[in-house]
Amino acid sequence: MGGIVHNTAGFFIKIFVFQWDFALFLLNSVTPSHKEGQVVPKGCPGHNLSWPEYVPPKDGDSRSACPMLNAMANHGILPHDGKNITFKELNQRIRETFNFAPSFCFFVPKFAADFLNRSYWKDTFDLEEISLHNAIEHDASLTRQDAALVPDQGKPDLKLVHDLLAEATGKMPDGSARLTIPDLSRALSKRRVDARKTNKDYSESFFHNMFGSSNSSTMLTLFGGAIDDLTPMLTEERFSEHWEPRVRSKFGLTMAKFNFTVLPVERGVDTKKIEKEQAATAAATETAS
Ligand code: HEM
Ligand SMILES: *[C@@H]1O[C@H](CO)[C@@H](O)[C@H](O)[C@H]1NC(C)=O
Ligand SMILES: *[C@@H]1O[C@H](CO)[C@@H](O)[C@H](O)[C@H]1NC(C)=O
Ligand SMILES: *[C@@H]1O[C@H](CO)[C@@H](O)[C@H](O)[C@H]1NC(C)=O
Ligand SMILES: *[C@@H]1O[C@H](CO)[C@@H](O)[C@H](O)[C@H]1NC(C)=O
Ligand SMILES: *[C@@H]1O[C@H](CO)[C@@H](O)[C@H](O)[C@H]1NC(C)=O
Repeated sequence: MGGIVHNTAGFFIKIFVFQWDFALFLLNSVTPSHKEGQVVPKGCPGHNLSWPEYVPPKDGDSRSACPMLNAMANHGILPHDGKNITFKELNQRIRETFNFAPSFCFFVPKFAADFLNRSYWKDTFDLEEISLHNAIEHDASLTRQDAALVPDQGKPDLKLVHDLLAEATGKMPDGSARLTIPDLSRALSKRRVDARKTNKDYSESFFHNMFGSSNSSTMLTLFGGAIDDLTPMLTEERFSEHWEPRVRSKFGLTMAKFNFTVLPVERGVDTKKIEKEQAATAAATETAS
């Protein structure tokens, strides 16, 4: 009974959030965007392109599989120890810091509270708890080895990060390197092929593939694919100096808008092509020797 009441409420909350999100998506198209330097609201860390000091995590600090949440803790935007964070605080902080739409900022922490069996309204969590396997955290991530191989998901795997950054084929207006939609699709394809080979407990689902491409698509939207900004964020989980979200819409990045990036990324994933290429390289190496 409790379950039914809970699920019915959950269903209506979802319907409401998606409608709210779509309304914000429409409002964004008719309202002027924030000015450069003003995307992060006045009084919040990061306003006027000025971020609080970066302090790397200390022993005993709690960190998650999410580079961006860890970065917020490293700069003290979330508690530096990564502990005892309210879901409501998470909502507010990701909204201020990354200019995500309020619909999105409610939806994701609510989703996390639900999978941790906690109350979104009253309870708290530690960052490492967000990495619960196959809730949001999943195999074949771009910056973490699979949880079965490396149980501590709180630190980036620098080899994986460098492989990802090296995929960039695009150019920013100033000529520096940029990660594109096809680059990201290719990186995800390679990770899925390699993870299948190296992790005997590997699991994959449409749902988690979509999560993976959603999560990584923030690198293309909020970061505009800029390798200069992604490098400190993914290697040290640090904001680059004078960074601000590249989505400047008044009501923030909506889930509806996000879909326009996520779907092409996921559609471009082609693990068969990568498997064929790897087989061809292996065959060529064999013939040569
Ligand atoms: C509500 C808050 C959030 C939660 C609960 C959350 C949770 C997670 C989790 C559990 C992962 C690991 C998924 C995996 O196994 O790959 C992840 C990855 C990721 N998150 Fe978040 N996240 C949040 C907010 C954000 C924000 C605000 C950003 C960007 C601005 C972001 C960007 C990313 C990216 C790029 C990855 C992919 C890393 C990879 O593939 O290794 N997340 N997130
Ligand atoms: C914003 O930052 C610039 C450069 O750091 C500085 O010159 C300016 O005074 C700042 N403006 C405000 C309102 O803080
Ligand atoms: C967690 O934070 C709440 C306030 O948000 C505080 O009342 C409580 O004592 C804290 N718990 C721990 C273990 O620090
Ligand atoms: C939450 O509750 C469900 C159902 O009782 C249980 O299967 C699951 O393991 C719990 N999750 C956590 C993180 O405690
Ligand atoms: C990460 O993936 C989860 C699962 O879809 C999603 O709820 C969350 O919004 C994603 N985070 C970001 C920043 O896209
Ligand atoms: C994309 O749109 C569908 C339908 O509106 C929605 O259910 C889904 O959660 C959206 N995905 C993301 C990542 O916003």
